Amino acid sequence: MNKLSIRLGLLFFIFILLIETMLFFFLYQGIISERIQSETGNLLARGTTHRNVLEKNFQESTIEHVALMETEAATDVVITDENNKVIKSSNEITDGMQELINNSKAHHFTHHGELLEDRWKTEKYMATVSPIVVNKKVVGFVFMFLETVPIRNMIHQLTNQFILVGVISIFITLITIFLLSKFIVSPLLEMKRVTEQISQGNHENELNTKRDDELGDLARSIQLLSDNLERLKKDRNEFLSSISHDLKTPLTYLKGYADIAKRPNLTNEQRNEYLAIIKEEAENVVALINDLFELAKMDENQFTIHRRSVMLNDFLEKISQKFQPAFNEANIILQIKCAANIRVSIDAERFRQVISNLLDNALKYSPANTTVTVEVNQNKNGTTITVSDEGEGISEKDLPNIWDRLYRVEKSRSRSTGGSGLGLAIVKKIIEGHGGEISVRSKVNVGTTFTIHLKDGGAN
Ligand SMILES: Nc1ncnc2c1ncn2[C@@H]1O[C@H](COP(=O)(O)OP(=O)(O)O)[C@@H](O)[C@H]1O
Ligand SMILES: [Mg+2]
Repeated sequence: MNKLSIRLGLLFFIFILLIETMLFFFLYQGIISERIQSETGNLLARGTTHRNVLEKNFQESTIEHVALMETEAATDVVITDENNKVIKSSNEITDGMQELINNSKAHHFTHHGELLEDRWKTEKYMATVSPIVVNKKVVGFVFMFLETVPIRNMIHQLTNQFILVGVISIFITLITIFLLSKFIVSPLLEMKRVTEQISQGNHENELNTKRDDELGDLARSIQLLSDNLERLKKDRNEFLSSISHDLKTPLTYLKGYADIAKRPNLTNEQRNEYLAIIKEEAENVVALINDLFELAKMDENQFTIHRRSVMLNDFLEKISQKFQPAFNEANIILQIKCAANIRVSIDAERFRQVISNLLDNALKYSPANTTVTVEVNQNKNGTTITVSDEGEGISEKDLPNIWDRLYRVEKSRSRSTGGSGLGLAIVKKIIEGHGGEISVRSKVNVGTTFTIHLKDGGAN
């Protein structure tokens, strides 16, 4: 047995025992006092009836008749004169009866009769007395007796039955507690065992998730937790292996170019060229590490969005000016379509990162003589910003993965298109931080469109 089931069981047991004891006590006492009352009531009523008959006709033959009537009954009658001298009795008068009759001598009894003895637990008889009054004078008494032994026997039997029922109900309680512990505590213990296994990295366990009660809910939650944890672990491992790959590649370049630059027979010009490559690669690594750091902060929810109202037109124009030389060099047209009065409440610094990343991609993945367009639309449902290009596009297979960290369609890291694969992951985080959404549509060799939707509508 385990602790919870013992505690639960004990609590149940105590409560049920308390309730049962109380119920039994009231029931038991109620039945007994009811029984006694009805016995004494009957005795008195019988005595009164005899008395009434005798009052009408207080003669030998009537007395005889009354005594005769009681001979076969469980009760006994004794008829006396006004001085308690026995005239007639239905059965032999015992010492106990005589004693009661004698003790009642010189007492005054009301006409409708009185209880003479009701201590059924200790005395041999319960008794009543009814005075016989003829012409306003007491001429005698009708004593009624009932033996208490049968009553005591009956109550003894009742007690036994109550004890039996009590024992049975305690037994049933024990069985209930056992079943309860089996149905409640056992699944809990099983879940505890499974969660311990999960924390040790074992996700193979199967829980009973089919129950449609709270325990089923708990089991399903644990299962979900286990699945999530497993997925997270897998993600982390994949992430670690791609990050080590991504760090190793540029560092290999660095080492290679550093070796070459060390050669003694190089011209100054050549050496400077290699040093420039080394510098560029080093900058790439720094950028990658910065991005990773950024994402880690975002994951920890340590980044806050500092919103302020921004005039989108000016905002986009400023970014495009910075990109213009690069676009010119690649012979790609960059156009901004944004009405003059559109305002949004955004974190400008972060949002600049978003647009820059998207423009950077559009530039990187588009051939010469194409157009990249940034277009803004605002209505009461919010603000939509699209960045579309006419570049190489993304295949349907790759499309869902582009938001993943370090995911690049072109896996080989060529130095010309060597992005980190973190750009879109950062973009997504920032947009979600703004409570917005970002989606992508793309067709290979036709172009790609990224659509940002902000809830910030034209009304505010
Ligand atoms: N405009 C685009 N056209 C074609 N492919 C794109 C475009 N934007 C992103 N991609 C694909 O999505 C991948 C992930 O993008 P991103 O997270 O910005 O990483 P990076 O640009 O550093 O490679 C890119 O490697 C590229 O394959
Ligand atoms: Mg990018």
